[in-house]
Amino acid sequence: MISAPGRVNLIGEHIDYHGLPVLPMALRRSIRIQFQLRDDHRIQAVSEDYGGRAFEWTPVLTPVARGDWENYLRAAAQAIAGQWGVLNGIDAAIESDLPPAAGLSSSSALIVAVTLALLRANHIEATFEELMRILPDGEHFVGTRGGGMDHAASLASRAGCASLIEFTPLAVHHIPIPPEWAFLVAHSMHTAEKSGAIRERYNAVRTAGAAALAETGFPSYTAAIETVDEHELARLAEPLAPLMRGTFLHVVTEAHRVRAAVCALRENQPAHFGQILLDGHASLRDRLGVSCPALDRLVDAAMASGAIGARLTGAGFGGCAVVFCRRADLDKVRDGLLDRFYSGATGHIYEAEPGPGAVNS
Ligand code: GLA
Repeated sequence: MISAPGRVNLIGEHIDYHGLPVLPMALRRSIRIQFQLRDDHRIQAVSEDYGGRAFEWTPVLTPVARGDWENYLRAAAQAIAGQWGVLNGIDAAIESDLPPAAGLSSSSALIVAVTLALLRANHIEATFEELMRILPDGEHFVGTRGGGMDHAASLASRAGCASLIEFTPLAVHHIPIPPEWAFLVAHSMHTAEKSGAIRERYNAVRTAGAAALAETGFPSYTAAIETVDEHELARLAEPLAPLMRGTFLHVVTEAHRVRAAVCALRENQPAHFGQILLDGHASLRDRLGVSCPALDRLVDAAMASGAIGARLTGAGFGGCAVVFCRRADLDKVRDGLLDRFYSGATGHIYEAEPGPGAVNS
């Protein structure tokens, strides 16, 4: 069996695809897949929630209808084919306790799980680097031009730790989370369906960031951050059109927030860490425009309930918020949210415990 976890991103949103470091942690919720090698090239999978799918694995696969989960199976097969060719297929049974479309990376976890199952069934031991070369591109097959954060977190996280993921060059640093820190993941009740209209908005944010970078003349965001201080970056952003200016400022300030959050985590400074999460949310809301009223209310409700920080997590446009509090206050914050945001309805909020990645389990 393969188990690929979802992730909650603590800080570093909408910057992985610009090559900048991010700080997620894997959840103890995952996509699990049981599989058996076939002696032909057919891939057959059945999911308890979404039913059965079957197709012939050929060197060039095309997507089926938008939103169909078979696309994730095809994405995995296509990604493998580009590197190792068409292999034998599998019969697979898939189950999940990861909520879909919640910003917790259920789709990347599914691609990771299917990829690892196909490789393992065919006795191929791929390295983390090899997997990271093929997986983000696999997701492009489904239509979202995401970065590598979700796959890296799902593959390489370590229990009890946040993962500082760097992309240039690829590296994962495991940073222990102090035992007295606790995180909740709370759903805004506004669904962010990434395979639908949201993917155009996601891709537009990415394009605006790349266009802004080109206008400022830096070869990369990494170069911009390393050569110029925050004030100078703000001055350089002034002449840009509003969408590009907001995006540029979000990206460069978020990169600084990741660095600051890593220090706060290492030095056990919860108040500083919480403020960084709140600043990150404000930037996603005001500069990038990827929050929504439900997420803003959820963050406010978390703070009114005794959290130290909270922000939307993942791509945004709906989905979940990550809520940070002292472990001693966990029940108080959860009860406060149930009261203030969910009118007593349960099942939309749970503790996010830092779990192992698929290759570290
Ligand atoms: C999605 C993508 C990630 C990342 C986030 C935003 O989850 O899959 O690569 O870009 O959005 O930070």
